[in-house]
Amino acid sequence: MDTLKWHDSYSVGDDHLDEQHRGLILLINRLDSGVSVPTALDELQIYVDEHFREEERMLEAVDYPDLAAHKRQHAAFEEWLEASRQACRSGEVVGLLRESISSYLKTWLVNHILVSDKAYSDYLD
Ligand SMILES: [Fe+2]
Repeated sequence: MDTLKWHDSYSVGDDHLDEQHRGLILLINRLDSGVSVPTALDELQIYVDEHFREEERMLEAVDYPDLAAHKRQHAAFEEWLEASRQACRSGEVVGLLRESISSYLKTWLVNHILVSDKAYSDYLD
């Protein structure tokens, strides 16, 4: 799968959150650079925890009406990430898994930013 690249259409209209989304793209792309999958997922977990919580706090502060649904998407992603980290710990990582993890992350992030994150952009003005 191609390297994920930031695109201006990904902007949610908030510089700080855009910067964090760029950071997520960088971390996800590391999976294609041969870095160990467990290491990449550990780093992603730390980053995602900080980013999701911050995004949720900002949305809470503006009474974003779809916050509950948005939080559920974050939680579902975190469950997937934990299950993937678990699989790595039990030594199940093979080449195919690296590819499917990388592909899932890229698809999830772009869809999440373009649909769910974009949906709150008007509320942060
Ligand atoms: Fe989000």
